[in-house]
Amino acid sequence: MTSPLSRRIVLASRPQGEPALSDFRLEETPLPAPGPGQVLLRTEYLSLDPYMRGRMSAAPSYAPPVAIGETMVGGTVSRVEESAHPEFATGDWVVGMSGWQSRAVLDGASLRNLGARFEHPSLQLGALGMTGFTAYMGLLDIGQPQAGETVVVAAASGAVGSIVGQIARIKGCRIVGIAGGADKCDYVLRELGFDACIDHRTPDFAARLAEACPQGIDVYFESVGGAVFDAVLPLLNLRARVPMCGLISSYNATALPAGPDRLALLQGMLIKKRIRMQGFIVFDDYGHRFGEFYQAMSGWLAEGRIRFREDIVDGLENAPAAFIGLLSGRNFGKLLVRIGQD
Ligand SMILES: NC(=O)c1ccc[n+]([C@@H]2O[C@H](COP(=O)([O-])OP(=O)(O)OC[C@H]3O[C@@H](n4cnc5c(N)ncnc54)[C@H](OP(=O)(O)O)[C@@H]3O)[C@@H](O)[C@H]2O)c1
Repeated sequence: MTSPLSRRIVLASRPQGEPALSDFRLEETPLPAPGPGQVLLRTEYLSLDPYMRGRMSAAPSYAPPVAIGETMVGGTVSRVEESAHPEFATGDWVVGMSGWQSRAVLDGASLRNLGARFEHPSLQLGALGMTGFTAYMGLLDIGQPQAGETVVVAAASGAVGSIVGQIARIKGCRIVGIAGGADKCDYVLRELGFDACIDHRTPDFAARLAEACPQGIDVYFESVGGAVFDAVLPLLNLRARVPMCGLISSYNATALPAGPDRLALLQGMLIKKRIRMQGFIVFDDYGHRFGEFYQAMSGWLAEGRIRFREDIVDGLENAPAAFIGLLSGRNFGKLLVRIGQD
């Protein structure tokens, strides 16, 4: 029997600033047959996520970097092609971390089995997966939104932000989104039902955000940082909560921003207004609550109370360009690569 082949994208070099296509390399490699307890998987969908930029860097972080020459990490939905694990059968859909490759041999213990029939499997990487879980835990556990409060959501049309705003709406809050460009703002308002959405690229962005938040901001869900946070900070109310989810505007930065140093301004605001900012890493901090999230989100999706948008790119070879675009806002919705019969 011939060995199965996997096409994979490896990290060729560590980027300085914005990643380049030359930082990635496409390879073809033979895979071993699955050993006891293992399964051979064919990737159907690969999730592209901003955290992958951190894994390309050797700087200390909460997770080790991808080594040069190794397959890029990533969440996947796959189908079982061959099983040496009693709880997996050929054709089963599974969620796992195959990374940027068309096939993988993984331990069954590292996978979640969805069974043979599954509707909309890619949702397991978005609203019903890591990004939906991030929105749910960050907003509800750290943001603690109360009915009638104003919740401001950065990157509001994206995978996490779109879900944050819709959960806040379910909780009875007034929701103001921030997004890049008229099309995204239009979608956030009309499709997702936010009360307002402000384009962070407009020159009078800070003034327009203030106008959209006449009662100030009670919860700010931070995914961006930089100029967006500068506009939010003066609007935060007494006892505001700020779930610190991400800082995508600085992921490609090679140095801290030029002065003036505004740290004392931030610290003064935190004290005077008793603001609580808290960072989190979703699976590290809340992995034990995934079941609770999954049940709640499945219910909201079934009732049509949560809508989602996927930005699907075809072909593993197109993953690097799509990922580079994610870091500058070229995606519109949850970014996925469809690999299928690759
Ligand atoms: N802490 C955790 O456990 C955890 C887990 C998942 C995700 N995250 C974080 O959550 C955030 C959102 O992730 P996602 O997967 O939902 O991505 P996403 O929102 O679907 O896509 C990223 C979006 O960020 C916005 N963006 C990029 N550069 C920007 C800039 N300079 N200024 C303002 N906006 C910019 C763009 O939207 P616009 O075009 O609208 O600007 C872009 O579409 C990221 O910071 C990510 O690292 C954290």
